[in-house]
Amino acid sequence: MAGFAPMVIDLEGLGLEAGGYLLVQRALHDLPVGGRLTVRGNDPALSTHLAAWSRSVGHQTDLADDEPAVVKGPAAGARWNRAERAGGPGPHGVLPHADVRWGLAMRGALVEEGGPPLHVDLVDRDLVWADAARQLYINGTARQWDPATDVHWNDPFSLPAEIEAAVVQVMTYLVENEYAALQIPAKFIARLHPHYREVMQVLSIQVADEARHVEVFTQRATLRSGEVGVSGAGGRASLQTLLDEPDFSLASFLLSVLGEGSFLDLLAFIARHAPDPVTREVASLALRDERRHVAFGVAHLRHAVNADRSLLGRLRMAAERRHDALASTAGLNQDVYDSLVVLASHAWTPEAIATGWQAVQNLQRDMDKGRQRRLIELGFPADEAAELSALHTRNFM
Ligand SMILES: [Fe+2]
Ligand SMILES: [Fe+2]
Repeated sequence: MAGFAPMVIDLEGLGLEAGGYLLVQRALHDLPVGGRLTVRGNDPALSTHLAAWSRSVGHQTDLADDEPAVVKGPAAGARWNRAERAGGPGPHGVLPHADVRWGLAMRGALVEEGGPPLHVDLVDRDLVWADAARQLYINGTARQWDPATDVHWNDPFSLPAEIEAAVVQVMTYLVENEYAALQIPAKFIARLHPHYREVMQVLSIQVADEARHVEVFTQRATLRSGEVGVSGAGGRASLQTLLDEPDFSLASFLLSVLGEGSFLDLLAFIARHAPDPVTREVASLALRDERRHVAFGVAHLRHAVNADRSLLGRLRMAAERRHDALASTAGLNQDVYDSLVVLASHAWTPEAIATGWQAVQNLQRDMDKGRQRRLIELGFPADEAAELSALHTRNFM
């Protein structure tokens, strides 16, 4: 080993198995292959342990002299020779394709070969990504609210039985829609490569949001009478078509852009016409979260359309397919529709009902305008946006 000064390390009383190997490893780090490191120490088992450790990590030992020595082997560190860097931790480290062989490794980690592949299929950036995901996640975590304390459940109010029944019916309808809005992102999280961490996080916050919406709407439904409203088959059929959509971008389009987009107006309507403070609060709190869900859907689809213009055609087909599938169903349950009219009427006079009826017409017009605006934002021409918006489910979501 001419040319390399022999190195010596003294472990004193520290056993190799009690952390001494860290000092040996560090001393070997800068040695070339074949370099020799003499290891001193008082531990009687030092030679035995050194030989076993060296063998396990690819070095040789020389025990001929009084003091044992390690000779750095060529295979040392070989397990990392074919290791691969899985992108980088920051936003610039996001790669267009994520390898399932990286498994659950942190983005940016040096990933050792071998190990089980991840069972996920959403592995391409442009099929899931939005640059806004990180900021939406940060906003989402900062604005989590507490159903137990942020809603004034004990505020006194008393409603005529028919008005209370209308509120209960609307809440019953909202809960089944919230279930769909929870299950869909939850399903995609399980299929998403964690390389796209920011998307995974934003979808997780969305799931947590929907769980809170389920909670407050359920509580408001049962606050007074304890009775729950009806669930129409047409509404459930509409939601099932969302659950059945396997493509992330198409599901995001149908659920977040069109469905949750329409719900922004619906929740604002309920908050505005709420006959009691609790109903007003739960609708307003949910509305706050839904704005983020819609923003992510729009941001993702803008990214995806930018990457591949032909997606617009597929979005259009998805909306048409859903419309055709639902053509024979009733769409929105009549009881829900009537309950919305009652909420906005405030009294049982022809004049009041006329006002409520008009308010629900206006609501549908506002939903349509909002959908058209978002469709144009995605890149649809105005006339196509109008056509597609008109095909949207009568169930609103
Ligand atoms: Fe929701
Ligand atoms: Fe939502």
